Amino acid sequence: MIAAMGSQITSAGTADLHQVLADHHRYWGERDLRSLHRPELVHEFGETCLVARAEDGIHGYVLGFVTPTGTGYVHLIATRDDARGTGLGRRLYAAFAEAAHRHGALRLKAITSLGNTGSIAFHRRLGFDAEIVDDYNGPGQAVVVFHRVLPFDAVQP
Ligand SMILES: CC(C)(COP(=O)(O)OP(=O)(O)OC[C@H]1O[C@@H](n2cnc3c(N)ncnc32)[C@H](O)[C@@H]1OP(=O)(O)O)[C@@H](O)C(=O)NCCC(=O)NCCS
Repeated sequence: MIAAMGSQITSAGTADLHQVLADHHRYWGERDLRSLHRPELVHEFGETCLVARAEDGIHGYVLGFVTPTGTGYVHLIATRDDARGTGLGRRLYAAFAEAAHRHGALRLKAITSLGNTGSIAFHRRLGFDAEIVDDYNGPGQAVVVFHRVLPFDAVQP
């Protein structure tokens, strides 16, 4: 079933993290990213950690923060399996960008693994440049790094 539209995007709390972790596979499939869902993020960067809430639970979320040099860094973004392709990922990014901009961000950045073709297509669609950076995660561990400037606006080429 397709998740109903009309979720509300608000600040995330630790209870939201627990809810997401209880349903982790619905956001991340077979990948185990549970250890990246650090409570410190919602405690210390509550303004830039957001969830899309609906009556039937959390449809999606973005966890990020603003660096001292003005980068809005997206640590994790995911939408629930039944909420994909509805524009929610774009809405979450727009809400994050607005919050990050309010806190001094001039640009956005995110990373993903080389094999995450869905994430690469999604970020490109949202106007990010994608660059492979060798050794980003240590020797021999390249990642794809995404960059784009703010404001976000609705980039729909
Ligand atoms: C990547 C993800 C967050 C996208 O969320 P979503 O809610 O489906 O995205 P949207 O519906 O807002 O799509 C926004 C645009 O990106 C495009 N897009 C999204 N996923 C895509 C994919 N897998 N392939 C190609 N294009 C894609 C959409 O077509 C849409 O384009 P449009 O606005 O021109 O119509 C979601 O697929 C997800 O949670 N994946 C698993 C977790 C993950 O890998 N997160 C990224 C880690 S960096």
